[in-house]
Order: sequence, then structure tokens, then C-alpha cells
Amino acid sequence: MEKKVFLISGGSSGIGLTIVNDLVEQGHRVVSLSRSKGKIDRALEEMPHLAEKADFLTGDISNQEDAGAIYAYMDKTYGVLHGLVNNAGVLTKGTLETISVDDWRFTLDVNLTGPYILTKRLLPLLRNAGGASIVNISSVAGLKPGTSVAYSVSKAGLDMLTRFLAGDLGPYNIRVNSVNPGLVRTNIHLDNKVVADRDAYEEMLEKACPRYPLGRIGQPADISGMVRFLLSEASSWITGSIITVDGGVMAENDLIPPKK
Ligand SMILES: NC(=O)c1ccc[n+]([C@@H]2O[C@H](COP(=O)([O-])OP(=O)(O)OC[C@H]3O[C@@H](n4cnc5c(N)ncnc54)[C@H](OP(=O)(O)O)[C@@H]3O)[C@@H](O)[C@H]2O)c1
Repeated sequence: MEKKVFLISGGSSGIGLTIVNDLVEQGHRVVSLSRSKGKIDRALEEMPHLAEKADFLTGDISNQEDAGAIYAYMDKTYGVLHGLVNNAGVLTKGTLETISVDDWRFTLDVNLTGPYILTKRLLPLLRNAGGASIVNISSVAGLKPGTSVAYSVSKAGLDMLTRFLAGDLGPYNIRVNSVNPGLVRTNIHLDNKVVADRDAYEEMLEKACPRYPLGRIGQPADISGMVRFLLSEASSWITGSIITVDGGVMAENDLIPPKK
């Protein structure tokens, strides 16, 4: 694989951090964008080799000014972007009756408007690459109602953004695809206070497990392999696709009780 420049939003934790590390291992230059310095420090404690091989920038993907600053940095430093992974996301709890309007807006802002803002801002640099790939990290919750109405709606919207942009950007040879994970072990549920504590999280995973035909919850590496593929030339005729990476949970048969 030719050495390229990639930007991964939410690259300081979970799935995003694994994607950053994988791409660095392949010799690419990687830029991560996330909000808190604390998570970046923790990521660099865990993977100190990334300090020299990746740029960890702070900024909020749903903020237009931050997106402008990221564009300015990328333009000045690299002048080109071969791939963008819209991975940053938040999770909020709640049904129509229980979710607040503020939480609804926040979820849609980060998970849907954020990728729109960042992609729009970085488009000139993607065009400069003469062929680029955008990967949106969506969710199976965007394909089938999950436990949060705002989260499911945000990811369903992101999938439509994927399909829409595939049509829009195809003439520039920019491919756009969604990767829709099932449940993956990361800190997203705890950090967003969707579960009360570590014990409640473990209990949630244990309860979910029987619904996965492969018998296990995902790991970030299960997702990053697909992202690597979609960023590579091996997927050069794939665009507008919504690809589940979910241990088979979408193939689960709802009509029979889950296996013990
Ligand atoms: N884990 C799962 O079970 C699962 C399943 C399906 C889909 N997904 C999707 O996978 C993606 C990654 O999730 P994860 O599980 O790896 O979560 P995670 O460990 O919580 O990582 C989320 C990353 O996004 C960053 N982030 C959040 N809001 C941001 C914002 N407004 N601007 C910039 N960065 C922001 C976080 O850093 P800061 O907080 O410092 O900004 C962090 O680096 C998300 O889109 C999620 O919806 C996850």
C-alpha cells in the first residue's frame, strides 16, 4: 500500500484508536481529532509509539470553527487527504418519552451533523488526492431500532449521508461507505453514562452475547480490519455500501428464543 495521509475523528479511544494504530503500523501518516486532552494522554500512555507517528489534535467535529481550524492545519501540513474516517460518536439513552430535547440535539449534532461538517470542510483536500475514501462508522442500531431513539436515528441518517455522498462524490473518484458495527467492547457506554458502572456494563455484554451467532461481542480490531480494507485500493469499486460488521447479530432470528 502506498503511504498516505488519513484523518480519523475520535482517534483517541476505542475503535478509532485501533484504526489509528493499524494505519500507523502500515506506515501511513495519521491525524486524530477528538475533544478531550485527557483521552489523548491516556491513549499515548497506552501506545507511546504513536506520539511521533500520529498527530493528535483537539476539536469538536460538530463545531464549524474547529472544523475550519482542522482544515487549516491539514492544508498547511499535508495539502492532501487520502482518507477520512468519520468515527467520532456519542451514545445517549432514551425513548421518545424519556430522552430530553437537549440530548436528542446533542446526539444528532455529533453523530450526523459532525460528519457532514467535517467532510464538507475537508473535501478540497480529499479532491487533491485524485482518489480518496471516506468511511462513516455507523451502527447496526441505524438499521434496526436499538435502545436509544436519537442514536438510532442519527446512525440511520449517517447511512443516508453515505449513500448520498457516494453519488455526489463518485465523479471525483471519492468513495463513501458505512461500516455498521454490532456491540463492541469500548468505553462508549461508560463514558456516556449509558450504564451505571463497570459491573452493569459487563452484565449488559453478557446478556447481549447469546444474540450473536458467533457467540461473542466485538473487539475494536474486528472493525478496523474492514476500515483498512475500505481505505485501500482493494475496495476501489465499492462505494455507497452499508456494511455490517456485527458477529451476525443482524442475521439473528427474532422468531426463536436466543440460544443460552
Ligand atoms: N462500541 C460499540 O459498541 C459501537 C457499536 C456500534 C457503533 N459504534 C460507533 O463507533 C464509533 C466509535 O465508538 P467507540 O465505541 O470506539 O467509542 P469511544 O471509545 O467512546 O470513542 C469515541 C471517540 O470519539 C471522540 N468524540 C466524541 N465526540 C466527539 C466530538 N464531538 N468531536 C470529536 N471527537 C469526539 C471521543 O473523544 P472525546 O470524548 O475526547 O471527544 C473518542 O475519541 C462511534 O461512532 C460509535 O457510535 C460503537
